Amino acid sequence: MALFTVFGNPISHSLSPQIHLAFAKQVGVELNYTRSLTSVSRFRRAVAQFFREGGAGANVTVPFKEEAYELVTHVTARAKQAGAVNTLVPLGYGQLLGDNTDGIGLVRDLTQNLKQAIAQRDIVLLGAGGAARGVVGPLLAEGPRQLIIANRTLEKANAIVEVFNHRTLVAARLNEVVIPSGALVINATSASLAHQTVAVAAEQLGQAGAVYDMMYGAEPTVFMQQARQAGVAKISDGLGMLVEQAGVAFRLWHEGAELNTQAVLGELRAQQ
Ligand code: ATR
Repeated sequence: MALFTVFGNPISHSLSPQIHLAFAKQVGVELNYTRSLTSVSRFRRAVAQFFREGGAGANVTVPFKEEAYELVTHVTARAKQAGAVNTLVPLGYGQLLGDNTDGIGLVRDLTQNLKQAIAQRDIVLLGAGGAARGVVGPLLAEGPRQLIIANRTLEKANAIVEVFNHRTLVAARLNEVVIPSGALVINATSASLAHQTVAVAAEQLGQAGAVYDMMYGAEPTVFMQQARQAGVAKISDGLGMLVEQAGVAFRLWHEGAELNTQAVLGELRAQQ
């Protein structure tokens, strides 16, 4: 039976096995999908061993996405833009293709599941770390009116703006950002992971037409609570992004698979 895995640390709460097994059931294929806990020093060896032993594909999550980008022999254009890899596809003879499905997963969740427009709209992306950089390219490809990258450390937002060099892209300091009325605000900081607030002014956050946190959990994140207190009507977590990025990875491994990602998202929500 084809074997897949997800590498990460921590990894015990990863929903990826459940999501991929649900997709497999939809398309009638049998597969095994495990969780692989590894460490920075062992990551490369663990990946090599997995594929040497016949692994059919793997996902990579925090904190190994940049390391995965370094180890692959081939990368897709979107992985190159992101500087990070979350999906590994074996090409044979020890060669590995690295892709990044996070940004397209976010865009699909926003536009298809949540019916939130990106084209011609003001988008504010909070954070300028790996998670933020990974979604900038796919967001820009949708044609926003403006994409503002707001970060606590302005230099890191400036660095992303320089790399992408796109006329709609601007950088701002997080606590000074002016959020345009009706904007879509996306939290890509790691604050939610640490249960911390994001230092964006409440009167600015209140201007948002919708707020999206790329994190998810059993409870709404601190940032989602900030948004509710600021009076934002439409607030979403990142569970749909997780399912959609998994769907794109699944289709890479099983060419032509037709998936119902919304059904899987519905199952997960019912279990929350
Ligand atoms: P990731 O891979 O999750 O993006 P990262 O590369 O370490 O992690 O980046 C973390 C991001 O979250 C950064 O943009 C960081 O801001 P700084 O660049 O100023 O450090 C941001 N971040 C983390 N905790 C935050 C908090 N409590 N409030 C606001 N931003 C925060």
